[in-house]
Amino acid sequence: MSKQDELAKLKDEVDKDMTLPLRDGATQLVFGEGSPDAEIYFLGEAPGYWEDQKGRPFVGQAGKLLDQLITELGMKRENVYISNVVRFRPPENRDPLPAELEAFAPYVDREIDIIAPNVIVTLGRYSMAKFFPDVKISQVHGKPRRIRWNNKEVTVIPMYHPAAALRSGEVLNQLREDFKVIKKVLIEDNEQEIESSEQSEEKKDKMEQMALV
Ligand code: URA
Repeated sequence: MSKQDELAKLKDEVDKDMTLPLRDGATQLVFGEGSPDAEIYFLGEAPGYWEDQKGRPFVGQAGKLLDQLITELGMKRENVYISNVVRFRPPENRDPLPAELEAFAPYVDREIDIIAPNVIVTLGRYSMAKFFPDVKISQVHGKPRRIRWNNKEVTVIPMYHPAAALRSGEVLNQLREDFKVIKKVLIEDNEQEIESSEQSEEKKDKMEQMALV
């Protein structure tokens, strides 16, 4: 089965899982979207008003900023993957509860497993806590960490949530700086892979497509 088909199947399962919390107060499911072959997987918190209306992640004000930051790196939204730890809008945009995060976690893990990204960028405290439960975002933002997640190596870069950057110029500057780390990490990872890979032409093409060379 192709990655696209696997993601479609996963979405269908989430849509049919009546045990999931927050469904009743939401307009619709907001599943992840983007390239199934993405090297970068952005993980946000939960859908807001516009996401709930449109059924797509990061399409409101925070999403516009995310798009801008992705474009500033010379990349395209359609070449990355964008998702959330919670897939239905919490009432009044309140923070997700531990039980809600737990309920969606197996689906988030399966999505990560299908895409198998090189880099996971966590946006905000809740997605960061999935990988690093006991750290403070002010101390670790922009610092990549190579970890093993479900038997695969991945670099996780915690970042502030774009919505926080919309409220503070200082946070926005930090987020912009942290975004530059994504490119650095991808270039380093890809260079290492090209050196050790027989499929270097394919890898180079992918880097070109992502404006990394
Ligand atoms: N904030 C998030 O965390 N996710 C979205 O999809 C939109 C806003």
